[in-house]
Amino acid sequence: MSKRSKSSQRWLQRQKNDPYTRKAIEQGLVSRAHFKLAQLDKKFALLNGKMQVLELGSAPGGWTHYLAERVQRVIACDLLDMEVPGDVEFLKMDITSDEFVDQLALIMKESRLDLVLSDMAPNISGVRAADQAGSMYLVELATECAHTYLKPGGNLVVKMFQGEGVDEWVADRRREFKRVQLVKPDASWKDSREIYGVAINARI
Ligand SMILES: C[S@@+](CC[C@H](N)C(=O)[O-])C[C@H]1O[C@@H](n2cnc3c(N)ncnc32)[C@H](O)[C@@H]1O
Repeated sequence: MSKRSKSSQRWLQRQKNDPYTRKAIEQGLVSRAHFKLAQLDKKFALLNGKMQVLELGSAPGGWTHYLAERVQRVIACDLLDMEVPGDVEFLKMDITSDEFVDQLALIMKESRLDLVLSDMAPNISGVRAADQAGSMYLVELATECAHTYLKPGGNLVVKMFQGEGVDEWVADRRREFKRVQLVKPDASWKDSREIYGVAINARI
């Protein structure tokens, strides 16, 4: 058996045994990622019905569906296409592009955000230092969106990989938000380096 088919078999087996994958299928959800946001929402009371939320890295749409049922306005963005629920404003764009910066500026002309969420992850190359840098670059861009468009008192949640740049991100955000915490939701794979940086109550 080739190395690749062995690792895809391991992946399939892990999916089959995973309670969150089973629950997502039973409940007809787009993805098991739904439970990560649900757990962050429960822990930090992130969402309410009056909110305007920017969601970065939205495909295939697990978080977007969760948000669409709970907040007033969702602006979602991804490189990839996805099935977009109801009133969600979807930007099929690369957030590193000028097109995204210009489009968001246009959309946000008259309004400000209550929450910026990023579940973005770079394409994994397997080279740890490069993947870490790629992830932290996306974190930086999401944080920049928060700097530009968050209301005072707003919140920011970003996916990161444990490693270089994370402690610095936390220290920097502690100067700008009243509460900053790193969290690994139960639904996040235990053996992954994925964590979420949660910054609550912006002073900016
Ligand atoms: C882990 S998935 C997000 C899963 C999603 N939260 C859900 O609940 O279904 C990460 C997403 O980040 C997107 N992404 C990565 N780099 C991006 C970029 N530069 N601009 C926009 N989206 C990006 C990928 O296309 C991918 O769909």
